[in-house]
Amino acid sequence: MAGSVLLVSLLLISCFEASCHGATLSSLQKTLIVTASPKKGQDLKAGEDIITVTWSFNTSFPARTDSAYKTVQVKLCYAPISQLDRAWRKTDDNLVKDKTCQHKIAAKPYSPSNNNFTWTVQRDVPTGTYFVRAYAYNSADEEVAYGQTTDTHKTTNLFQVEAISGRHVSLDIASICFSAFAVVSLFGFFFLEKRKTKNSQEK
Ligand SMILES: *[C@@H]1O[C@H](CO)[C@@H](O)[C@H](O)[C@H]1NC(C)=O
Ligand SMILES: *[C@@H]1O[C@H](CO)[C@@H](O)[C@H](O)[C@H]1NC(C)=O
Repeated sequence: MAGSVLLVSLLLISCFEASCHGATLSSLQKTLIVTASPKKGQDLKAGEDIITVTWSFNTSFPARTDSAYKTVQVKLCYAPISQLDRAWRKTDDNLVKDKTCQHKIAAKPYSPSNNNFTWTVQRDVPTGTYFVRAYAYNSADEEVAYGQTTDTHKTTNLFQVEAISGRHVSLDIASICFSAFAVVSLFGFFFLEKRKTKNSQEK
């Protein structure tokens, strides 16, 4: 009992000192310029359509600002409208707790320019409104800088993804309607046939 309490305390302490003590987005410099191919408001189909992302170091910042950058991760992130009433997508300034960017697009060694990556929107991406963000990491794998395709308030340059499941549902509805139509036509056909037979018998 005492042993497990000690173990839990140790875990909590190590958690506070290491991973749980993550960087905050507001503390990061926004030194990356990120662009993505979808036009504002464009509708992409999960599993089919592609996104081309480019990123580079914003040279308005002093040279060597990026000297500690080792890797870059590009992610697909939920816009506020797709986070409403969904605690599991909630934004938290503490990046360990942040759930804004759940879909990884690319992970690459850092380079200040000529970076681009083309990604097919994965089939597990749910219907929603999105933007793209890139984080730069240092050699200790801590976020040290970022950039994104939208403004600070996450209102500009947003695009939509339409999930596979949504399309299947509409396909299912279409096939149900078609079956119903087929059944009705079949009954209608029998009814007409019967009447025709009856009519010819009466003649
Ligand atoms: C580059 O950084 C400067 C200074 O922070 C900023 O004013 C400018 O808008 C940035 N450029 C781009 C393309 O984001
Ligand atoms: C795209 O990336 C390749 C390397 O992967 C690079 O040679 C090329 O210049 C990049 N293009 C742009 C427009 O950044």
